[in-house]
Amino acid sequence: MTSQTRLTMPIGEAMFSQRAIRKLRPDPIPVEDIHTLLDAAVKAPNGGNHQPGRFMVVTDRALLQQFGALYHEAWWAKRRDREKWSSKADIPPGSQYQHAAQLADEMKDAPAVVLVCAPRGTAAPSVLPSAQNLMLAARALEIGSVLTMLHPQVDERVRALFRMPADVEIFCCIPLGYPRGKFGPTTRLPTAKTAFFNAWGAPPPWS
Ligand SMILES: Cc1cc2nc3c(=O)[nH]c(=O)nc-3n(C[C@H](O)[C@H](O)[C@H](O)COP(=O)(O)O)c2cc1C
Repeated sequence: MTSQTRLTMPIGEAMFSQRAIRKLRPDPIPVEDIHTLLDAAVKAPNGGNHQPGRFMVVTDRALLQQFGALYHEAWWAKRRDREKWSSKADIPPGSQYQHAAQLADEMKDAPAVVLVCAPRGTAAPSVLPSAQNLMLAARALEIGSVLTMLHPQVDERVRALFRMPADVEIFCCIPLGYPRGKFGPTTRLPTAKTAFFNAWGAPPPWS
């Protein structure tokens, strides 16, 4: 069976139920499934088909423990910079940041993490479609995922942990695992509000 033939979930079902899964079971992900996710990732469009994306897969428990601590530091550094929060008591009740804070605590326990990387200076649009392909393929295999980002404060230490050269940039970090909870649906603005036809602000025919 190839990666292509393993991904049999209808694309609509995958897209409409793929959501941020932050609570992960500790069960390991079979390596052939990880292979399928990476096969899907590299099929993504990218400028000039130069294929700059590189994917650092981490499954080693000792490395994940160390990475988890750095992710936790990065997540709180972002909250400090953007919201001026310094502890969970600062997060408004009911905010989805509560869940993100829990992921920051639990990243160390994720069965696997993929760092989506490329040569420093690569345009993000040439890299991020691969992350979405990877997450949709994960959904098709009942594997939860969420796109997250790091913070410059930990960049050097993360790259040192995985022996990554200085000219490699980490675009995002995707924990993977079987969900504690359920996939989709997601809540998004209606396309009548987000799509225009032929002129900015002109409503689409279905609005
Ligand atoms: C650029 C980007 C950065 C994100 N950073 C984080 C993050 O640091 N931590 C986190 O838990 N989720 C992060 N997310 C996930 C978003 O919060 C999530 O995609 C969004 O809230 C929609 O969630 P849903 O698909 O479950 O509705 C990020 C997503 C994107 C696209």
